[in-house]
Amino acid sequence: MRIDVLKLYNFRNYNRLTISFHPNLNLIYGKNGSGKTNLVEAIYVLALTRSFRLVGDKTLILDTTSMCKIEGTVFNTYSTNYQILLSKEGKKVQINHDKVAKISDYVSKIPIVLFHPDDLRFIKDTPSTRRKTINISISLLDLPYLRYLNLYNKLLKQRNAYLKQMSVNGNSSSDYLTILTDKLIQYGCYIHKKRQEFLVKINSYISSFYEKITGIKGLTLKYVSSYNDLNSDEIRNLYEKSLSKDLTFGKTAIGVHMDDIKFYLNDKDLKEYGSEGQQKNAIIAYKFSEIEVFKECKGYYPILILDDLFSELDEEKVQNILSLLKTEIQTFITTTDVDKLSFLPYLSYKQIHIQNGKVVEESEHERRK
Ligand SMILES: Nc1ncnc2c1ncn2[C@@H]1O[C@H](COP(=O)(O)OP(=O)(O)O)[C@@H](O)[C@H]1O
Ligand SMILES: [Mg+2]
Repeated sequence: MRIDVLKLYNFRNYNRLTISFHPNLNLIYGKNGSGKTNLVEAIYVLALTRSFRLVGDKTLILDTTSMCKIEGTVFNTYSTNYQILLSKEGKKVQINHDKVAKISDYVSKIPIVLFHPDDLRFIKDTPSTRRKTINISISLLDLPYLRYLNLYNKLLKQRNAYLKQMSVNGNSSSDYLTILTDKLIQYGCYIHKKRQEFLVKINSYISSFYEKITGIKGLTLKYVSSYNDLNSDEIRNLYEKSLSKDLTFGKTAIGVHMDDIKFYLNDKDLKEYGSEGQQKNAIIAYKFSEIEVFKECKGYYPILILDDLFSELDEEKVQNILSLLKTEIQTFITTTDVDKLSFLPYLSYKQIHIQNGKVVEESEHERRK
C-alpha cells in the first residue's frame, strides 16, 4: 500500500499543494510550525476521515476559508483516487470520483500506522484511550468488529437505562434484563475474542522489537478483561453476582467496556513504574508489531507515519529504530533535523522541505550500498 500523489486545497496552513511521494521513504523536514504534521495529518484524514489530533473537523480547514479538500492517488495492486471534502455542511467522500454515501464504507480502505508524540497517552491515560487505540487497529483487520462494537455500546446504554428504571420501579420485569444481558454477552464475547487474538499476535512480535530498540528483553502486553478464561455460563454468573451493585449505580460493571491493556516489562507495570523513555519505546515497539500483524493478516503492509519521533531520542535509539524500517513499507518521517537521520537503510528516498505551508524544495536521493 502506498500513496503516490497528494493534493491539498485549503487544508490547515496549505492553500494549494500537489506533491508526489516516494514509494519507500519520504523525509519531511522544516522548522517547528512549518506544516510537517499538517502534511502527514492530511494523509491520515484522507484514510480515516478524521484527525489523530483530538480536534474537531473545523480546525482542519484553512482559517478564513469555509471548505477544504484532500485528494490522493493510492496504489495497492491498482491505483485508486480518494477524495474528502470538509465544510460546514459536514464531510463528503468519493472513491474514483463516485460519491460514497456512508463514511463507514469509505474508511479502513487505506490502512495507516502512525506514531505521534501524543501517543504517549496510550500508556499514561485511562483504559478508554487504550481500548480506542486497539479498536482502531482491530477494525482495520476485521470488518465486522466495528459493527459489533456499535451494537454492544447501544445495548449497554439500553441495559443501563433499564437498570435505572428497575431501581425506581421495583416491579419491572427481570426477563427483559436477562434478554439484554444475554445479547450483551453475545456481542461482548465476539469483541473479547478479537481483542484477545489481536493481543496474542502483537505479543508474538513486541518483545523482539523492544529488544532491538533498547537491548532489553521481556516486554509483553497483558489483556485485562472480566471475560478472560470464562465460558458464557460463567460470564452470566458474573452479571448475576453484580446485579445488586448494578441496580444501585444504574450502571453495568461487567463487560468488555471495562477492558484494559497493560504493558509489562518483565514483572513491572510500565504505567506505574516505567520511565517516560521506557513508555515511549514500548509504544514504538507496539506500532512496529502492529505493522507486522497487519501484514500477517492482510498480506501487505500499511503505510507508516512517524511524526516527530526522533526529536528526544539519543543517537543510538534513533539508529536502532531506523534499522527496523523496511523498504516494502512506504514510510513518512517528519523531523526538524535531517542530519540526525543520516543512518537510513534505504537506497533511495525523497526529501521534502516545508516552509510556512509550502514545499520549497523536493529532492530524490540515492545512497550507495
Ligand atoms: N486551520 C488552519 N489554518 C491555517 N493555519 C493553520 C491551521 N491549523 C494550523 N495552522 C498552522 O499550522 C502550523 C502548524 O503546523 P504543524 O504541521 O503542526 O507544524 P510542524 O511543522 O511543527 O509539525 C501553525 O503555524 C498553525 O498556525
Ligand atoms: Mg509537528
